[in-house]
This record gives sequence, C-alpha cells and structure tokens, in this order.
Amino acid sequence: MALDGDLAMGLLDGKVAIITGAGGGIGRAHALAFAREGAKIVVNDLGGSREGSGSDASPAKKVADEIRAAGGTAIENHDSVATAEGAGSLVSAAVAAFGRVDLLVNNAGILRDKSFLKMDEALWDAVIAVHLKGTFLCSQVFARQLVAQGGGGRIVNTTSVSGMLGNFGQANYSAAKAGIYGLTRTMSIELQKHRITVNAIAPIAKTRMTEDLPMFQGVDTLTAEHIAPAVVFLASDLCGDRTGYVLAVAGARLYAFKVVETPGRFKETDNGVWKPQEIAESWDAIIKA
Ligand code: NAI
Repeated sequence: MALDGDLAMGLLDGKVAIITGAGGGIGRAHALAFAREGAKIVVNDLGGSREGSGSDASPAKKVADEIRAAGGTAIENHDSVATAEGAGSLVSAAVAAFGRVDLLVNNAGILRDKSFLKMDEALWDAVIAVHLKGTFLCSQVFARQLVAQGGGGRIVNTTSVSGMLGNFGQANYSAAKAGIYGLTRTMSIELQKHRITVNAIAPIAKTRMTEDLPMFQGVDTLTAEHIAPAVVFLASDLCGDRTGYVLAVAGARLYAFKVVETPGRFKETDNGVWKPQEIAESWDAIIKA
C-alpha cells in the first residue's frame, strides 16, 4: 500500500478508481491491488447474496477499512449497479469525495443458474440487469464524467469463459457476459476519440461464486489475487492505447479471447448466390480459419 510520504511511485498514483462489487472475491483483490499502486478507491458493493438477494453495507465498509488501515485512501459505497439511479449515485459519490474519476472496473455480479429449458424470465432479467445493464449504466455515466473532465481514462469490464464459449446451465449468465464482450468492443471504438481505453478480463478464480464447483475442490492456485495484476495493467499507463481486448486469467495462465473471422469462400458463378447444397459441400472450406 502506498503510504503518505512514500517515495515509491505506484502505477496508479493519484488516480480515482471505482470498483464495483468490491466487497469480496475478485473485486476485493482489485481494490487492494489498486490501492497498493496509489489509487484512491471507491469500494462499491450492494452486499447481497451470491444470487443477488438482500443487501448489506458491511462488505464494502470492511474492504474500505482494510485499505484505510494500510494507509491508503478509500470510501465505501452501497449503490446497486443494476439501476440508473444507483449508477448515477455511485459516480456522483466518487466525484463528491475525490473531485474527479479516472478508472472504472465493472466487476459486480450474481449467479442464477438453471438449464436452458427450465430458465424463467425472472432468472434471465436479474442476471442481465446486474452484469450487462449494470456494465452499460455505470460505464455510460462514468464515461460522460470523463468527457466532462476533458477526456482520458480507462474502463475494465468483466466477461467470462462462459460468455465467450458458453456453459451448461448458464443461458442468462453467458448471454450477459457475451453482451459485455460486444459492449466492450463498441465502447472501445466509440470512446477512442476521448482517449478512453475499454478492455475486459475473463477470470477464473475460487470465490464464493465458484467455490462449490468440482474444479475448485482442494485447489489453491486459482485465486482472486492472481486476477488483480491483469486489471492493474489494463488500468495503468502500461496498457498504452491498447483497447477492445479480452485478457483471460486463470492462476498462472494469461491468455486472450479473440473472435475469428475466417477468409471464407467466394461463389464465382450465378451472380455470387450460393445454393444451400453448395454450402453443405463447401462447409469445411468456409469455416477454415
Ligand atoms: P463474488 O460473488 O465474490 O463477487 C461479486 C460481488 O458483486 C459481490 O460482492 C456482490 O455483493 C456484488 N454485487 C452483486 N450485485 C451487485 C449490484 N447490483 N451492485 C453492486 N454490487 C453487486 O464473485 P466473484 O467471483 O468475485 O465475481 C466477480 C466478477 O467476476 C463477476 O462479474 C463474475 O461474474 C466474474 N467472473 C468470476 C469468475 C470466477 O471464476 N470467480 C469466472 C468468470 C467471471
């Protein structure tokens, strides 16, 4: 943690960072890592259950206390990212406390798993609201504030392997996370002229969200602390003007997700109109990367 009067330069010295869902798990690790690099932190967390029910002010306060006890600067915030009112209040709280904003990490999330045929509208809406709509709302009010400040800043979103590849039982969650991928791409394009980079991470870590999955039993090499440095990188000047990337982190492994557009095949005859039978015959060539 960068202490007052500490001469060592932090990668995020003086930056104001909002981290959503930072009361536990991966968000808490981000908040502590950002504070160690000298950022002033807005620790946001609604404090509900893994499924998103209820609210509790203590998780955000505990993390903000932890940062302050170590000599860092932090405030806690309990707004829900899933409403326009909450997102607006969150960014206003940051500006009221620190006079400006620089960095946003959209990390808050819930799970309501159910297989596709059994998924109902309420499970769908709740998960889309926190992940996809929450990322849109917080990013928009945050980016408008950056533009009002004269531009410059960084947003890091949180997608998932489930969103990039799909996963059994997660129709709502994978749709939300794939939506965050598309939103990241479009924001990265549109906000470039305001010198705002927008990237995403796809983490794998043992947290309350995942601790009961078989792959995490007896495993202590896939921690939230493995994830945070990738987000510090994407939020710091080390990232340069890189934007629109998805950096995946699973313990010691760092990799990237990319959408592949194949060269494809051109139909030379019939005015370029393919026959369905020809598509069947050329399938392997069409999808070859
Ligand atoms: P977690 O459940 O420990 O943390 C999520 C936090 O978000 C909680 O503290 C929760 O109170 C907060 N939150 C939920 N709804 C909120 C709302 N409306 N407003 C503000 N805060 C809210 O889970 P974890 O694992 O730390 O997840 C962090 C992010 O990483 C999530 O977006 C999750 O989908 C994503 N992720 C996690 C993976 C993993 O392996 N743990 C895998 C892929 C993605």
